[in-house]
Amino acid sequence: MSWPAGSACGEPDERVQALLKASGGLNLGMEFLSGALGFDPLAHRVDPAEAGRVVWFDALINNVDRSWRNPNLLVWHGDLWLIDHGASMIWHHNWRTAQTAAAKPYDASDHVLAPFGPDVTAAAAALAPLVTEELLTEVVAEVPAEWLADEPGFDGVADVRRAYVTALLPRAKTIHERITLRGTGAKGATK
Ligand SMILES: Nc1ncnc2c1ncn2[C@@H]1O[C@H](COP(=O)(O)OP(=O)(O)O)[C@@H](O)[C@H]1O
Ligand SMILES: [Mg+2]
Repeated sequence: MSWPAGSACGEPDERVQALLKASGGLNLGMEFLSGALGFDPLAHRVDPAEAGRVVWFDALINNVDRSWRNPNLLVWHGDLWLIDHGASMIWHHNWRTAQTAAAKPYDASDHVLAPFGPDVTAAAAALAPLVTEELLTEVVAEVPAEWLADEPGFDGVADVRRAYVTALLPRAKTIHERITLRGTGAKGATK
């Protein structure tokens, strides 16, 4: 969706108003989960299989913003929804470091789902084969070209799209071997 710079579209919430005013132009609109609750690790239970899939996904995209302090998870009609992936793939702010950064381990000791015994091994077995070159290529093809234009060090938008695939494809295959879940007793840090 696209809206004019500076417009708050009659939004009553001041915080949302400020965000809208700063977000003129093309925006990505996701589903609004009306009545969703913020995830509370003391009030909600997550089984090890689901916790493993979330931790594995966060490891893939190197999301550092899913801690118990700031879960960025909503509960809606009994299901867990992942939101706010703004602190992921930090390397796409400095592409020269992307290959080295994408090869790094993922420390999940602070992850909000670490105490639920995430079964990262099972998650990797189920999810890693789905993250194919074809899938990644298809997904990055959906990113509007204007968001990828003028990236320093690249020969055009197609090159930037390829860089995401090159960084994420090998990470999907092996990241489960490099996830740390210290002190949680979780079945995570094994092959
Ligand atoms: N898709 C959504 N549906 C309903 N509420 C949402 C949705 N996305 C975010 N929110 C609400 O807005 C809050 C802040 O959203 P978030 O995306 O985490 O932004 P930030 O952390 O950058 O402020 C969430 O905790 C939630 O209460
Ligand atoms: Mg947030």
